[in-house]
Amino acid sequence: MNASTALAAENPSNPTDRVDLLIERYGGRTPRYTSYPTAVQFTPQVTAREYVAWLQSLRRDAGAVSLYLHVPFCDRMCWYCGCNTVVVNRRSPIEDYVSRLLREIDLVADTLSQRLVAGSVHFGGGTPNMLAPAEVGAALAKLAERFDFGPDAEIAAEIDPRTLTAEWVRAAADGGLNRASLGVQDFDSSVQKAINREQPFDVVARAAGLLRDAGVSSLNLDLMYGLPRQTLKGLEETIDKALALSPDRLSLFGYAHVPWMKAHQKLILEDELPDSRLRYEMQRRAAEFLEARGWRRLGLDHFAKADDSLAAAAGEGRMRRNFQGYTTDEAPVLIGFGASSIGRMPQGYVQNAAAVPQWREKLERGELPVARGVEMSADDRFRAEIIERLMCDFTIDLAEVCGRHDRRIEDLADAFERLKPMESDGIATVSGPVVAATRDGRDFIRSICAAFDAHLDREATRHSRGV
Ligand SMILES: C[S@@+](CC[C@H](N)C(=O)[O-])C[C@H]1O[C@@H](n2cnc3c(N)ncnc32)[C@H](O)[C@@H]1O
Ligand code: SF4
Repeated sequence: MNASTALAAENPSNPTDRVDLLIERYGGRTPRYTSYPTAVQFTPQVTAREYVAWLQSLRRDAGAVSLYLHVPFCDRMCWYCGCNTVVVNRRSPIEDYVSRLLREIDLVADTLSQRLVAGSVHFGGGTPNMLAPAEVGAALAKLAERFDFGPDAEIAAEIDPRTLTAEWVRAAADGGLNRASLGVQDFDSSVQKAINREQPFDVVARAAGLLRDAGVSSLNLDLMYGLPRQTLKGLEETIDKALALSPDRLSLFGYAHVPWMKAHQKLILEDELPDSRLRYEMQRRAAEFLEARGWRRLGLDHFAKADDSLAAAAGEGRMRRNFQGYTTDEAPVLIGFGASSIGRMPQGYVQNAAAVPQWREKLERGELPVARGVEMSADDRFRAEIIERLMCDFTIDLAEVCGRHDRRIEDLADAFERLKPMESDGIATVSGPVVAATRDGRDFIRSICAAFDAHLDREATRHSRGV
């Protein structure tokens, strides 16, 4: 028998063995597909020169754009952290960063041929609430000076509840903040110790209260599974506590353990990490727990109350996936500001220098601080749509996508070949041009998407676990 032997033939009756085999075959390291091509394909061939031309081609009447601002600073390092951030204990690097960030906004706005409308702003990090209240106010004021904001503009920030102050919330809310995402991860104190993030429930409750009182209408909590010392019961308790804070959405990210890229993750004791099987059980149990309480599971790792706008978008096939995860934001253009931020233009992706000194140096020379990117080919656009719809809807009518991109279904012969073992193993169905993940296959959607990835080095293993 070859490697793709059907699971059903091997062991039709034992669900435990079946799950283990699925994990072995499809729970390997696969991209998270927050973009296609993924960041692995970015090269220095995309420079400030290309970016200038791309920015100049943007047209106001093509619709509102989205803006992303990266704040790469934290108060202390969580050992699991996979974000682009550094710990700072002084104000001066932050002050310096903010002054350059304002300069970058001016530089981009000066490059544009037309004044654009912004439909959404997202402050990510790192920790945006490391900015002083006056600094977050200045960043929002600068954006309002250089872009027009629609009346329904969404202004969101990722927030560390441990360092959130009432003054910061007031300044951000005065500037229009209406959505927030609080980093929680897990409420169990033993897990918190193992990840160097001690954060009692009351601290999160206080932060949620400050945001609600300031009129922030949509609150998301970030939770994680796959952390050291986590148990199924503990995870349920964490979710229960999270629900007590009445969030509108929850994210449940699978811990990406990549110590070869993030040296501080070596501080996580690997023998305390749940194995693949337990990770699988955790996200399953979390989904069942939330669904039993009327929540909707959306895409890979998001949950929302049934009446939330993200749940509505998912129900109508309008949910999108971008670098911040799943979103209702349908803007085709994303302009990134700050070190490491990624932008999406009609022509391709562009990323700023990841390290603050390099980012700063380019700005000092009056240059857009671009380090790399990728220009998308027609084939990239075609596959990007297939992968994004699968990540969001778990099903796709390839005939429709082919029609939109003037392609033939035969052009996807390789992908159909790669889907065959997945069909036999019961994670995907193929009926004519319609490909769908089965109920079990939803947990392995990254592998199903990978079947359509023309760039993936299938031997490489430098991505985090697929489950
Ligand atoms: C920028 S942080 C959120 C804001 C703030 N820095 C905080 O932690 O409270 C974004 C989220 O990414 C998630 N995250 C960080 N490192 C991760 C990793 N290695 N694997 C999976 N998710 C991770 C965490 O859930 C975290 O809340
Ligand atoms: S998880 Fe958030 S607070 Fe912790 S180090 Fe990463 S970005 Fe900073």
